[in-house]
Amino acid sequence: MIALSLAEVASAVDGRLVAADPRVRVTGPVEFDSRKVGPGALFVAFPGERVDGHDFAAAAVEAGAVAVLGTREVPGVPLVLVDDALTAMGRLARAVVDRLPGLTVIGLTGSSGKTTTKDLIAQLAARLGPTVAPPGSFNNELGHPYTALQAGPDTRYLVMEKGARGVGHVRYLCDVVPPRISVVLNVGVAHIGEFGSRETIALAKGELVEALPADGLAVLNADDPLVDAMAARTRARVVRYGEAAHADLRAVEVTMDDRGRAAFTLVTPEGTAPVRLGLTGRHQVSNCLAAAAVARELGMPLTELAVALGELGLVSTRRMDVFERTDGVTVIDDSYNANPASMAVALRALAGIGRDRRTVAVLGYMAELGPFERDGHAEVGRLAADLGVDRLLVVGEPAAPIHEGATSVSDWGGESVLLTDQAAAVEVLRRELRPGDVVLVKGSRYRTWEVADALRAEASKGTAG
Ligand SMILES: Nc1ncnc2c1ncn2[C@@H]1O[C@H](COP(=O)(O)OP(=O)(O)OP(=O)(O)O)[C@@H](O)[C@H]1O
Ligand SMILES: [Mg+2]
Repeated sequence: MIALSLAEVASAVDGRLVAADPRVRVTGPVEFDSRKVGPGALFVAFPGERVDGHDFAAAAVEAGAVAVLGTREVPGVPLVLVDDALTAMGRLARAVVDRLPGLTVIGLTGSSGKTTTKDLIAQLAARLGPTVAPPGSFNNELGHPYTALQAGPDTRYLVMEKGARGVGHVRYLCDVVPPRISVVLNVGVAHIGEFGSRETIALAKGELVEALPADGLAVLNADDPLVDAMAARTRARVVRYGEAAHADLRAVEVTMDDRGRAAFTLVTPEGTAPVRLGLTGRHQVSNCLAAAAVARELGMPLTELAVALGELGLVSTRRMDVFERTDGVTVIDDSYNANPASMAVALRALAGIGRDRRTVAVLGYMAELGPFERDGHAEVGRLAADLGVDRLLVVGEPAAPIHEGATSVSDWGGESVLLTDQAAAVEVLRRELRPGDVVLVKGSRYRTWEVADALRAEASKGTAG
């Protein structure tokens, strides 16, 4: 963060100083967890339902915070008094990024792959200059300003994941931290329960390119018609990526190896280069092209780009995280989250890696599908069967339509079972797994990862399960 006086902070957030010296400067981070506060920090006190941040205000000052940003006075504590702490944090973030003219903000959104691609962009950007990107999925009204406030005078690139649960959300996040490069990955049915339709999702995601200045850049997925059409909603330049013939950055001659990793020829206006990815899953081709389009805009030459793409690794956990057990079982831990589109890419990766091996899919419930819930689950089950997955373990009653979808495919040679919980799935795996099997674990949080963790723990013990 850049140093700001409390007078500047108060003015940025439209707040009032109480028992605080306006000349004192905030030099440290802005924190809402009092345990992270150090000298020079600004502590943000949120009025929580169970825990009220104001109760920790004195401790934060004790730990070195120069003031507290809060919504009510605390005796003996220097305060920036505001009506709403979250809005104030957003305004403060905006004030900071506005004071950093050398900073390029990259925003990205999409239904699937935001965190993955955010990590890819951040890895490429970090080769070009100091980069700030949020850990994990820090993509909402809180994570956004919190991350932006970590940018300082040396920061060249700020990479921001923008999540949307409704129309206007991305626009708000763009007000907090205006992007100069906006990347839209895809429009699927994630969170369709809140949105109602794919068109509304496209409306919401497209706010990211509407927010661009004329000298900005929109990076759009040419393979997704709803994203492709967003070109009409921006005054910025547009670069398209994908496998479609009209894309500016293309992947052609895509092949997959037996570990589920893609190789392709990258075609750009500057020439072509071979790329061999270390990441798992066919969908990473698309994510990497999006990241490549950003790196190219930031000035990375094609030869370097092709090498850098090959060196990209996983940063955030439980996203297509492939590990080998000592007993010869391969596990794909994709248990962070799930929607029908991400289930599809994960199942395809399972089928690819398991081409000549026995494949097992442990699939849990997909949240937030609203009226699409039943069909969304059934579709995933049918796909698993169509791809020839050998053994399907469906975890939890709410995920039952996956089981029904799979068993409705009459010529499927595999077997599905509906299990009550994660522990039951671990039991079955323990009994059934044999060396050489490939197991995919995926669901919408809800502790599906306990299955992956159990498989991992047993791998380190070296048991054959
Ligand atoms: N381009 C893609 N298309 C479809 N599915 C993808 C794509 N990239 C990643 N996925 C799948 O989506 C899963 C979640 O990825 P990630 O966490 O990056 O998404 P996200 O958009 O950040 O999700 P969230 O909305 O939970 O923040 C991955 O583990 C993978 O299965
Ligand atoms: Mg995310």
